[in-house]
Amino acid sequence: MAHSLEGVYLIPQCIAFVAGKGGVLKTTAATQTAGLAAAGGWSVLLVDLDPQGNAMFDLGYRSDGGAGLADALMRGTPLRPASDRRDGLAYVAGGPALDELAPHLALHPEAIHALHNALEPIADAYDLIVVDAPPRELALRRMILTAAHYLVVPSGVDRASRVGLADAAASVTEIRQATNPDLDVLGVFAGPVGANSHQIRARVVTRLGDLIDDHDLVLGTVVRYAPLIAEECRERGLLVGEYADAASRAQPWYEAIKTGSETYSRAAEGLAADWQLLVDEILARFVKLQEPS
Ligand SMILES: Nc1ncnc2c1ncn2[C@@H]1O[C@H](COP(=O)(O)OP(=O)(O)OP(=O)(O)O)[C@@H](O)[C@H]1O
Ligand SMILES: [Mg+2]
Repeated sequence: MAHSLEGVYLIPQCIAFVAGKGGVLKTTAATQTAGLAAAGGWSVLLVDLDPQGNAMFDLGYRSDGGAGLADALMRGTPLRPASDRRDGLAYVAGGPALDELAPHLALHPEAIHALHNALEPIADAYDLIVVDAPPRELALRRMILTAAHYLVVPSGVDRASRVGLADAAASVTEIRQATNPDLDVLGVFAGPVGANSHQIRARVVTRLGDLIDDHDLVLGTVVRYAPLIAEECRERGLLVGEYADAASRAQPWYEAIKTGSETYSRAAEGLAADWQLLVDEILARFVKLQEPS
């Protein structure tokens, strides 16, 4: 079905996690946001639009390799989210089947509305729809930004990140002019930063604000650098808060190795607190922007 490029096509409660650079915490932030919002009682849908399909690792769900999502986006079949892992959290898996999507979008320009069209019939069931974007696949990014109402941009503050921020900003400008004038940047956040000192992390917030020349857009929480905990969470399909809860209930490691039980690091609490604060900020901005003005 052909679609006019006029009219409003966004999904009002949809937040996309997008960056102009790979490996900057898009997927981790998307899954923590979806998971914490669901744990807080919201009805949430997470859509993994990345051919890498990494969200399944963070959330520990089984994946069809993106086949259902690819069908919905390219052939218009209804999207059927699964919801077998956590109360309030439905998901649509990504994966290699989405590799077909970029060539499809090149051949069918009207498919820029495909994500909107797939989400629209089911969107009312959710308070929040989170979309995880791939690192740098411009055709997919355009389709995502055409459907999304809000955008969260993770970034570092190094030279490569500056290029990535400019790249993301260029996409926002382009999509506002082309298909989605109401696309709104909800916030930009920095991390992970290798410092436990709040002062050092606060300096990163200031630097990021200087970089984008807008301090109000920067979220104030910087997630600490904790690669081993992050890797263990992804390995076990647990959100950081879930891992920290399990760690607080687990036997001490010296008992666990005797009984052959799983061991947990007790250092996850700080990282879990960072994510809770960052997600609180994201959701507070989301709620405020959703209020009728
Ligand atoms: N707090 C943390 N400290 C250090 N490393 C982390 C932290 N949280 C996550 N990571 C690691 O950073 C890497 C990138 O994270 P993530 O997959 O969320 O980024 P991404 O932007 O989605 O990447 P991609 O561009 O490949 O989609 C992963 O290996 C993840 O385990
Ligand atoms: Mg990712």
